[in-house]
Amino acid sequence: MISEEIIEQVRLNTDIADLIGSFVKLRRRGRNSIGLCPFHQEKTPSFSVSSEKQIFHCFGCSKGGNVYSFLMEHERMSFPESVRFLAAKAGIAIPEERTDPGRKEEIENLFYAHEIANQFFRENLRSTRFKSLLNDYLIKERGLNEEIIEKFNLGVAPTGWRGLVEFAVKKNIAPQILTKAGLAGYAENKREYYDRFRNRLMIPIFNLSDRVIAFGGRALGDETGAKYINSPETALYSKSRTLYGLNLNRNDIREQGHAIVVEGYFDLISLWKVGIRNVVASSGTAFTPEQGRLLARFASNAYLFFDADSAGIKAAIRSVDSLYNAGMDVKVIKAPAGDDPDTVARRGADSVRELLKSSQTYLRFRVGEFRSQTRDLVETKDLIADLRELSSKITDSSLRELFQRESADLLGVNISQLSGGVNKTEPTPSAPLSDDDWGERTMKTIEAELVSFLLSHSSLTGRAAKTINAEHIQSDRLRNLYGEILSSYEKTGGQKAAEFIGHLEDDEIRKTATFLATRQWRTDTPGDTLDDYLNKMLEVRVEKPTIKKLKERLKEAERAGDNNSAAKLAAEIYERLKATESVETPSG
Ligand code: CTP
Ligand code: MN
Repeated sequence: MISEEIIEQVRLNTDIADLIGSFVKLRRRGRNSIGLCPFHQEKTPSFSVSSEKQIFHCFGCSKGGNVYSFLMEHERMSFPESVRFLAAKAGIAIPEERTDPGRKEEIENLFYAHEIANQFFRENLRSTRFKSLLNDYLIKERGLNEEIIEKFNLGVAPTGWRGLVEFAVKKNIAPQILTKAGLAGYAENKREYYDRFRNRLMIPIFNLSDRVIAFGGRALGDETGAKYINSPETALYSKSRTLYGLNLNRNDIREQGHAIVVEGYFDLISLWKVGIRNVVASSGTAFTPEQGRLLARFASNAYLFFDADSAGIKAAIRSVDSLYNAGMDVKVIKAPAGDDPDTVARRGADSVRELLKSSQTYLRFRVGEFRSQTRDLVETKDLIADLRELSSKITDSSLRELFQRESADLLGVNISQLSGGVNKTEPTPSAPLSDDDWGERTMKTIEAELVSFLLSHSSLTGRAAKTINAEHIQSDRLRNLYGEILSSYEKTGGQKAAEFIGHLEDDEIRKTATFLATRQWRTDTPGDTLDDYLNKMLEVRVEKPTIKKLKERLKEAERAGDNNSAAKLAAEIYERLKATESVETPSG
């Protein structure tokens, strides 16, 4: 771990406009520099870099952050890499790191165990015992070749129960490490470690640094048991955050701007073989939100390429939310009946390209699927609700409207059915509030402005914390962000926005934070401005609900004939209403 002081020192010694200017053409405009966003395609600049705040933000795709986030997003560096990179530029030495040595060693051991297991499985595939598996199955039947088998590090786990365990012991890996790696199990009754993968074709899964972190094990032949056994979640491997093939294909994906998403390991391998390399495999489950965000770092368009059977179609539908949520545009390619991407690829790259041309927008695909059967009204209503929900995730307002209009047309309903209840107006930076503005502003905007104000005036956070808790904020993201602001204040007494944002781990919260932090606040009396927000929040989010509850209790007391309580409650309600000045004081 690099110390917080160093991280902050390096950040303060880097100018964000200089740094980003070396990757992106920027032009000064007022206090900011602007340019074409490097994270999405655009023709007019909406990417803004603030030298004063040392943050960047794109008003188009809402990516944003500080110098470290920029390097992580744009150059795919890890956080420590980005700190080291900038420290070297700024001539700041990073003292030798203090880490928890035990933890670091365990992680290294797990990597080593996977490396050794990979070696073991590969050597087995080359042994005479598996000659027929190699030549008859992989090469003849599945159409692979030596080069591909090498490239993807394919191997085989033999039938015995202790092959890997014993091989590992020779390489000084304790069986306990193998169990932590998900490669071995322990039989309590026999007090023995045994191989978890037996008699399976082994497909190693790599992280973005090209190290093996897990395996998929495919059954050989047609014996009973699961078709695939995969590594469990370990300290190295989280299935929901991993995309098979991304380590190999990420540059092709980035260069082409779109990714083909398939389900199976072999789909990806076959496509690679015919030279189609902008592909990732979801490994058989629907895309998770994390996988969506991961992929969105490399491309903004996804082509879902699935089997034509109903399981394939269901998987496609279930994947779409995560991809839309990550801001990606989604198209669907259906393999012809009886085919999957693997078998199409085996007919050659041209067959795949031909099929790619027949891709449909997700919307048309979805409506087409829907129409292919007779549907009742409830199903129609569900579909409309789904599409409405999906459209609300499209951040660009003109694209959203287009989607809604097209959905309405395709379904033959009125557009209000698709747009109703979806209110995606983001708070826009604007002048500070004047008193009479309150009435027109929605509470969501007020919440956003309160948070934005605290990002620029973190030393006043204590004052806000006394009146408003995170629970008082209704919008999910803003509530989480406000919670982060309060806890950062408790720990540090208030940080500059760029530093605070650098510590936010959740992408979505970080996007919201950078967006809100770009607002310029010009006020000579920040305390008063803050109090305006706090009072309004107090009135609507704290007092109003309290008064509502008191009124209910008053009704109950009256019903029960409890005059004493009723009088007390009425007095309290009156006091509270008066305090919020929404009641006329009786005159005369
Ligand atoms: N999968 C899994 N567990 C299963 C079945 C499938 O984890 N029991 C995952 C695997 O990642 C697999 C993907 O889902 O790659 C797609 O499944 P499928 O199409 O059945 O497998 P393929 O890898 O295409 O294998 P094959 O072509 O040999 O049938
Ligand atoms: Mn397959």
